[in-house]
Amino acid sequence: MSESELILGRFQPYNENGDATDEIYSTKSIVEEIINIIGNEFIKGTVLDVGCGNCRFRKHLLKYAETYIGLDKYLENKDSIKGDIFSFNSKINTIWFMGSFFLHYPDYEKTLNRASEILERDGSIIICDEIRRDNTEYKIPQPGYYDLNTLAETTNFKIVNTFIQENGIHFVKILKIIN
Ligand SMILES: C[S@@+](CC[C@H](N)C(=O)[O-])C[C@H]1O[C@@H](n2cnc3c(N)ncnc32)[C@H](O)[C@@H]1O
Repeated sequence: MSESELILGRFQPYNENGDATDEIYSTKSIVEEIINIIGNEFIKGTVLDVGCGNCRFRKHLLKYAETYIGLDKYLENKDSIKGDIFSFNSKINTIWFMGSFFLHYPDYEKTLNRASEILERDGSIIICDEIRRDNTEYKIPQPGYYDLNTLAETTNFKIVNTFIQENGIHFVKILKIIN
């Protein structure tokens, strides 16, 4: 791959296969790496993709979940509904935030409290955002960044797994409700 193709690839965030031409950024590799690390028990039943964009993760999530619901505040397509977590009222098993949790600033706590209301008791939240969204490195909180450790404590969630993806860009954090 030429340098210009690589650079151009980095500026095509929502193509069918991934957010760059490099396989390491592909939607397939992102989901499969998560499954390899955490196992398939966390993506199951009905998965709600909050901030789903063009639903590019749908087909990969459906390898593990029975039903996929895309939810996006600004976009709508055949696999998604327009709205946000506060307007969504059904029970689900998995919430998938891919590059979208940070957009819930400044309502992170409210968002997780709402998530616990719509999640089944043994459900899971998977948050995958860029590493730089993690506020724990900063002494002064940055807008749009968050400290999930503190948020989990105040919203009755526990973080059961956390890791950086091989692409070196995304961190993944898995949350479960404390019963
Ligand atoms: C960076 S894009 C990621 C899209 C998708 N998750 C992906 O990986 O292709 C963020 C998406 O979140 C949506 N969004 C922003 N704020 C939202 C909110 N509060 N609730 C639901 N969706 C939101 C935007 O419209 C946008 O489609």
